[in-house]
Amino acid sequence: GGAVAFTGAHQAGIVTPAQDRLHFVAFDVITKDRARLVAMLQAWTAAAARMTAGRDAGEIGAVNGVPEAPPDDTGEALGLPPSGLTLTVGFGPSLFDGRFGLRDRRPAALADLPRFPGDALDPAISGGDLCVQACAHDPQVAVHAVRNLARIGMGVVSVRWSQLGFGRTSSTSVDQATPRNLFGFKDGTANLKAEEPDLLRDHLWVQPGDGPEWMTGGSYLVTRKIRMIIETWDRTSLREQEAIVGRTKGSGAPLSGGGEFDEPDFALQSEGAPVIAEVAHVRLAHPSSNNGARMLRRGYNFVDGSDGLGRLDAGLFFIAYQRDPRTAFVPVQQQLARHDVMNEYLRHVSSGLFAVPPGVTGGDDFWGAALL
Ligand code: HEM
Repeated sequence: GGAVAFTGAHQAGIVTPAQDRLHFVAFDVITKDRARLVAMLQAWTAAAARMTAGRDAGEIGAVNGVPEAPPDDTGEALGLPPSGLTLTVGFGPSLFDGRFGLRDRRPAALADLPRFPGDALDPAISGGDLCVQACAHDPQVAVHAVRNLARIGMGVVSVRWSQLGFGRTSSTSVDQATPRNLFGFKDGTANLKAEEPDLLRDHLWVQPGDGPEWMTGGSYLVTRKIRMIIETWDRTSLREQEAIVGRTKGSGAPLSGGGEFDEPDFALQSEGAPVIAEVAHVRLAHPSSNNGARMLRRGYNFVDGSDGLGRLDAGLFFIAYQRDPRTAFVPVQQQLARHDVMNEYLRHVSSGLFAVPPGVTGGDDFWGAALL
């Protein structure tokens, strides 16, 4: 139930231990007035600092204001602990379209994602000028945070789309047990972890000289809502499921042997065929198949009820952070979209790309201060 520090060199919610619950929200900016956008980001930062410490969104609070005015906090988190709440802000490509004079501040790494084979993206639940990733151990705390930021932003931003997630599908620390996705497999075994500072420097955080300066210490976020056709998956044999992933379903060990955290041996053959198939997910996604590309995955399971056809509307809300998507998510997804046998059971329905600036330092600093 404890609090995660809000200030720091990097934003919390990236390499801090993945919590159990997610409420992700993307906003469109609806004002043309840059000063109003700046004022809202200042108000958001102050509210985020309070809420992540377990306090009300506003200084007066949910029940201490004058009875004639709407309260500056909506109240549903009263009495709840901070619950590990992290709030992580990002800026989408569309924010740099010229409305706010930011065209020349757009990072080259924030290049629009290409269309991938098989994409079935719905624009209504894709993109956005701004995003906030709210993660917490208690869904009520995450939803409360998003709701209050949306309330504070009224007239400046409107919610474009949002997504709830109920179970983490990744570990971001060696102290965390590997959770499972809705295919029933351990997910997050071979992830970037907080305990690997050299890898985080090389693959996660934007470094001095990468440019632009305002992104140094930040990271780039890719989101993909991936519908999983679980009814078809559930009729697939265990052997076939394991062959598709390239790992065992029980322990998560590579099919080439060893324990969960042993490296897969892609050269190992049995009866003239590779033990881990050429088209297995772990082989196609592995750094050795992608010029050493790595990313920090931080996704969540979702079930949005059912789809009217007797199937659960379920899947993985994929979240990945990286130093440059052009050399990480993009080439890996190109491989997966073309060759991954798992695609038979997947459909990518939404996509998001955001520049996530470094952390705020306290004092007058606010989300996006160096950009705006
Ligand atoms: C590994 C499932 C989509 C990138 C894995 C593993 C599973 C898995 C079970 C093995 C355990 C692990 O190391 O975490 C899924 C499912 C997906 C999905 C069910 C879709 C619903 C994606 C996408 C990407 C991706 C879209 C990136 C474009 C990776 C990477 C690894 C991995 C980089 C680690 C490979 C390694 O270094 O061994 N995934 N995945 N996955 N996946 Fe996925």
